[in-house]
Amino acid sequence: MRVTLREVTRHYPGLTALDAVDLEVGDGASVALTGPSGAGKSTVLHLAGGMDRPDQGVVEIDGEELTARRLDAHRRRTGFVFQRFHLLPALTALDNVLAPVRPRRVDFDRRERGMELLTAVGLEGRAQALPSELSGGQRQRVAIARALVSRPKLLLADEPTGNLDSATGRDIVDLLLDLRERFGMTMLLATHDAEVAASCDRIIRLQDGRITADDTVAPAADALDRLGGYRP
Ligand SMILES: Nc1ncnc2c1ncn2[C@@H]1O[C@H](COP(=O)(O)OP(=O)(O)OP(=O)(O)O)[C@@H](O)[C@H]1O
Ligand SMILES: [Mg+2]
Repeated sequence: MRVTLREVTRHYPGLTALDAVDLEVGDGASVALTGPSGAGKSTVLHLAGGMDRPDQGVVEIDGEELTARRLDAHRRRTGFVFQRFHLLPALTALDNVLAPVRPRRVDFDRRERGMELLTAVGLEGRAQALPSELSGGQRQRVAIARALVSRPKLLLADEPTGNLDSATGRDIVDLLLDLRERFGMTMLLATHDAEVAASCDRIIRLQDGRITADDTVAPAADALDRLGGYRP
């Protein structure tokens, strides 16, 4: 899925969260959004996912304007991952994964789909565990599996490693990148962590609602990072 922001402005009373931002994210890309707190990273994710609308400018999905009547369909093709996991504490890992899917399909099929996703995130053995019985990294894996349940073509991750130690955070980012490749998704990820950002294909820096840098990450460095290699 290709995501384009054209001259997108988003105001809040007394401040401009995004100021005429132009951004094109190609199909299958992984893009990190960085920049200080309040720069507008989450605002970009919300606009890309159709959870928020611009005050001026347009958001386009695969070249078509994301109009009000397309929002619902677009949200269904978009997966969200958050810093705080947002799992339902009384539900098992499997039921958390299946929570967004209405039980319209036969229960067996749903469970099978849930188990496939738990397997994809390496948690097939913990399907019946409650969130309180899982580590932070495992909880985020459940949240990632849940984000994929509707087979999204766009994955939006807002500081997905913000509540994790750096080794676990790195595993989570590697998992997100693998899943993106495997399921053919475009990924936009907001992060304060330079190392996390460097594992994406491209790093965009925002400041005061504007893009101040847009860098392609060298593939060699990226590959080295994924192997845990040293970079000067
Ligand atoms: N619902 C809202 N009402 C008022 N102001 C808001 C709202 N949402 C965001 N803002 C403001 O818009 C600006 C951009 O916010 P945004 O959440 O996009 O920043 P961010 O880069 O994600 O920051 P952080 O790193 O802290 O998550 C900030 O000044 C923020 O206070
Ligand atoms: Mg934010």
